[in-house]
Amino acid sequence: MIPILNLTRQYEQLKTKIDEALIRVAASGHYILGPEVSAFEAEMAKYLGVKHVIGCANGTDALFLALKALKIGAPVDAQDEVITTPFSYMATSESIVRAGARPVFVDIEPDTMNMDVSLLEAAITPNTKAILPVHIFGQAANMDEIRRVAKAHNLFIVEDCAQAIGSEYKGQKVGGLGEIGCFSFFPSKNLGAFGDGGMCTTNDDDLAERLCMLRVHGSRKRYYHEESGLNSRLDEIQAAILRIKLPHIDEWNHARQAVASRYDELLKPVAASLKTPYRIAGNKHVFHQYTVQLQGANPSQLRADLQQKLQDAGIQSMIYYPVPLYAQQTHADLKLNPADFPVCEDISNRVLSLPMFPELTVQEQEQVAQALTNALQALPVHA
Ligand SMILES: Cc1ncc(COP(=O)(O)O)c(C=O)c1O
Repeated sequence: MIPILNLTRQYEQLKTKIDEALIRVAASGHYILGPEVSAFEAEMAKYLGVKHVIGCANGTDALFLALKALKIGAPVDAQDEVITTPFSYMATSESIVRAGARPVFVDIEPDTMNMDVSLLEAAITPNTKAILPVHIFGQAANMDEIRRVAKAHNLFIVEDCAQAIGSEYKGQKVGGLGEIGCFSFFPSKNLGAFGDGGMCTTNDDDLAERLCMLRVHGSRKRYYHEESGLNSRLDEIQAAILRIKLPHIDEWNHARQAVASRYDELLKPVAASLKTPYRIAGNKHVFHQYTVQLQGANPSQLRADLQQKLQDAGIQSMIYYPVPLYAQQTHADLKLNPADFPVCEDISNRVLSLPMFPELTVQEQEQVAQALTNALQALPVHA
């Protein structure tokens, strides 16, 4: 079986150091927000080139904490709106709702599958407080335009960088391009912990202080609580593991890029049936996922058949994401019309993600490409 992701290969590489760190933390008596977390925050700030890193429990909390730090949503003003993309993981829009604000979706670009910035201005109302781009699959959204619009309308920018650690926009790492960057260390991410973990990044001293206060129940001084926050702390064990992995992130992202280029080559013979991922020149795509777009008039049927054939050949594939956020049941109260998001509607029927991780071998990739080619040839024409 060739899985979409294999985490044990990475552990095997770093086993001695990780095992030693686990024992060191167990013996230290510090388990939450201790010296490992502080050291990790400092090392990560240096890596990203940001002033502050605030570790927290997961990427979903990072988004919620960011919105609360910016005083967006209830109880300040429940009418607040945050513009975001509908082509993301649920955590993106769920966090806006959880903060007591309203997600406002704009459609996506067909090539990058990131937020279509040409639609931003029209989505702004007097209630708009922030723009929340997601750097989907590891490629940065169009931050120049997002920053221009945010500046013109006095809006905050919260970047959802959960899939994009180390990704660069015009030479600058994501996470420092808006007021707050939000990251996830869920095990499957490019930099993954051995459980949940997350962080916020910011260059603003006051926001950093607010984030630190909010992650411990809204408290700056123990047992004195100035507003309601969360219990959202990073564990020492996770921080110790992340400190071991951080020095490898560029090398792993580079390996992902090599895997992506190899797929591009191997899939050239089936270029009429599927589009390989588009890259914006000058940016650094870190390929959290390698997601192709199936062509033809009935892509969802083709996709279902293909997935079955791949599975029969021992290859795992995934659909990120089959249901756009505006169509999720949890957002039914927003009463949104799918017809307002034609690109996202279309793309969500076409996307298929292939096995992608730094340790994927050339031979495994060749097997994936061969199985995909065979399957496409065996299937009736869906055009
Ligand atoms: C785009 C995006 N945002 C937010 C999250 C939430 O992160 P977490 O699972 O750490 O809460 C994820 C991943 O799970 C994600 O892919």
